[in-house]
Amino acid sequence: MPSNQKKTNNANAELYNPPSQVVSQANVKEYEKLYQLSLDDPSGFWGERAEELEWFAPWNKVIDDSRKPFYQWFVGGKTNIVHNALDRHLKTARKNKVALIWEGEPGDTRMYSYFSLNREVCKFANVLKSLGVKKGDIVTIYLPRIPEQVITMLACAKIGAAHSVVYGGFSVEALAERIEDAQSRVLITADGGWIRGNIVKLKDITDEAVARQPTIETCIVIRRTGQEINMESGRDYWYHDLMGLPIAAPNCPTEPMDAEDLLFILYTSGTTGRPKGIVHTHGGYMVYTYTTLKYVFDIKDEDRWWCAADPGWITGHSYIVYSPLLNGATSFMYEGALNYPYPNRWWQLVEKYGITILYTAPTAIRGLMRFGDAWPNRHDLTSLRLLGSVGEPINPEAWRWYHTVIGKGNCPIMDTWWQTETGGFMITPLPITPLKPGSATKPFFGIEVDVVDEDGKTVTDGDEGFLVVKRPWPGMLRTLYKDPDRYKEQYWGKFKGMYQTGDSARRDADGYVWVIGRIDDVIKVSGYRLGTAEVESALVSHPDVTEAAAIGLPHELKGNAIHTYVILRAGLEGNDKLVEILKEHVGHELGPIAKPESITFVSSLPKTRSGKIMRRLLRARALGQPEGDISTLED
Ligand code: WTA
Repeated sequence: MPSNQKKTNNANAELYNPPSQVVSQANVKEYEKLYQLSLDDPSGFWGERAEELEWFAPWNKVIDDSRKPFYQWFVGGKTNIVHNALDRHLKTARKNKVALIWEGEPGDTRMYSYFSLNREVCKFANVLKSLGVKKGDIVTIYLPRIPEQVITMLACAKIGAAHSVVYGGFSVEALAERIEDAQSRVLITADGGWIRGNIVKLKDITDEAVARQPTIETCIVIRRTGQEINMESGRDYWYHDLMGLPIAAPNCPTEPMDAEDLLFILYTSGTTGRPKGIVHTHGGYMVYTYTTLKYVFDIKDEDRWWCAADPGWITGHSYIVYSPLLNGATSFMYEGALNYPYPNRWWQLVEKYGITILYTAPTAIRGLMRFGDAWPNRHDLTSLRLLGSVGEPINPEAWRWYHTVIGKGNCPIMDTWWQTETGGFMITPLPITPLKPGSATKPFFGIEVDVVDEDGKTVTDGDEGFLVVKRPWPGMLRTLYKDPDRYKEQYWGKFKGMYQTGDSARRDADGYVWVIGRIDDVIKVSGYRLGTAEVESALVSHPDVTEAAAIGLPHELKGNAIHTYVILRAGLEGNDKLVEILKEHVGHELGPIAKPESITFVSSLPKTRSGKIMRRLLRARALGQPEGDISTLED
């Protein structure tokens, strides 16, 4: 078994029934029957969903499993996700509806209607074209949370180029590695971004990364923070200069794409080695993200949806950028930290903009809860109708606080379990679902999940096992960029015909799924996904370090924190100063979120006879748990 969690059956956990005012207006009124139908006739179910969107040419097959696990969706269909996210709405009254509301950390604001967002996207698409960017190219985007994130992503997709967005909180080596893998020629960045009143110097980081990975020929820089920066002549151009040129015309045709053409690559941490490029395509990802948001968060024309994630992660890709626009919704985006300048910043924003749905991570909820009820209680939060959670299991205490203090008991919490690989929500309540705090409840339509043992057999209800998905779905990753073998092996290799999630879970007697957490070498820190291997290689890149091991241990606010064990070069001795230096080094190479919580200097690391670090053993020791099977231990 993956871990030694105690066996419980949560069938009797407290149950929260959805309030009648929520149920009466829900987009989906019944779960069981429609769920069964979606499994009995997946082609019919997904075909109907796809027909709600526009296609340049119809598909001739909804699912093609002839080359499994390289499944294909809407085969032969032609569309472009941007056609459905923008162009489609311009023909209707939505043209003048607010698509995006943005507030910067310093309090500056911007609003875009569908019309004006489309205009910016077209202008920038023309800029990209004039730089020679074409269908199939991969553009790297490294930005703070500003509207240009959305604009540049959409502009790429519009002309058929793929984007590879690198989270603005990542740093030099993380960026360099991603540029290299994608072989990007064009990079979009900013002078900086605001965080807690400080400037994150993105352009400085970019310069360092590009020096390591010189494939970049053109760097487009958005002015955000305004300080002096280095602009390299012939390589670096200001965004606003380019957007002022005649080539930045406000009309640009949307490129018809094959349903299976590449939409984006998003790098994420895996079990071993370097981040892997998760591949998503235009057709299936579009249908899946559109449907999940519509059904789960009950998106309506009058809603103001706030997904408080970063566009640099999958949550932002799917639910800040693409899905809200596909649904013709009004989306809100905020640049800064949640407690700056005061812990009521978020609640102020909810009140100011009349946010109706707030979707965030447990770590943020715990962080806000810590400041007490007085901060939210100063604000009118009655606009809220639904709440959401994502990124890690939500502890029942945080769930109850979110439900009572923020939602005043009237707003069901959609605890959505999913992954970069899945494109959209997989296990999630609907607004009509009775909730149990801490459970993501049941699978979404068309999704068949199971909890299995080492042999792939379903475990008894209440037992812990491997969480798997037993059939393909439209939003699934298609492959790993340039590494189809690893895709096959890593996701479909362990259990025959099943997608392995990397998570462990339990299912209770009511069929509710309780996700426990990762069972591989992925660590979720404050909801962010990091790999032990990345942290280790950042440590080892410091000249004083010869070997390093990283593990995740429970942390009250962050969910998990990174703890590391380091072997120094012979003759060197560890001290507090070196701890600080190494933490800074990891921050500089990978990003502040990856800075270890602790660094312990050791003279050896537990390894298997084949030389693999036994992180499981390090964890067990740190937690004072039984060490389990150590027969493979080298020494
Ligand atoms: C975890 C984030 C419990 C899980 C969308 C998964 C969750 C990993 C939940 C993927 C949830 C995400 N309850 N655990 N509601 N949502 N996870 O790729 O371990 O950044 O495998 O995608 O986050 O992280 P990723």
